[in-house]
Amino acid sequence: MNDLKGKFIVLDGPDGCGKSTQAKLLSKWVQDQNVSAVTFRDPGTTPIGEKIRNILLDNANTQMSTAAEMLLYMAARAQLWTQCIEPALNEGKCVILDRWISSTCAYQGFAGGFGVDKIITIAQESLPRIWPDMTIILDIDLKSAAPRLKSDLDRMEKKGLVYHKKVRDGFLSLADARSGFAVVDASEDIKTVHSKVIEIITKKLLTD
Ligand code: TMP
Repeated sequence: MNDLKGKFIVLDGPDGCGKSTQAKLLSKWVQDQNVSAVTFRDPGTTPIGEKIRNILLDNANTQMSTAAEMLLYMAARAQLWTQCIEPALNEGKCVILDRWISSTCAYQGFAGGFGVDKIITIAQESLPRIWPDMTIILDIDLKSAAPRLKSDLDRMEKKGLVYHKKVRDGFLSLADARSGFAVVDASEDIKTVHSKVIEIITKKLLTD
């Protein structure tokens, strides 16, 4: 299981897919294999990133353009890379991310119409590394995801059904088009989803 050392794993998906719960379970599983694991949330984790997160999710910011939105997500991520991710990978830790560039591709690139290729280009210019060893998309339809959201929706969650349907399609098309992606049905119960995540990591990351 030493192969988990220095691995960069992302859990991503539509709002309400349960990735934060799954990130915690995955982190515990990695530590049970005697490998040190750290979990970071994107956007956020660093003091600068948390401030940017507040701007992004603040319902008062109704005027924010998709380009401004995308650049703020990228700025928070650049800080997260330098301050947290790169040092942890260099120490040989297994780094688990709650969202990453896959989210910017699905939300701003696909649903927001900014363009996925443009986002990948900007990410490549802003970060030393953009693709993780493995990205697991926790796929869920809007109806199943709705009860999992808190009642006070943030600015992104409030974007409406058409936008969020496109977000889901964006994640699925990204997973289809790129290597290093896997899709898990996240509408099942927490334990089943966790087992599937572990199965994928064991099969794709530890035996390839
Ligand atoms: P979270 O609540 O899952 O941490 O994510 C915050 C919100 O930000 C969520 O609605 C997804 C959205 N988001 C983007 O629109 N683009 C991004 O690049 C990221 C990382 C998140």
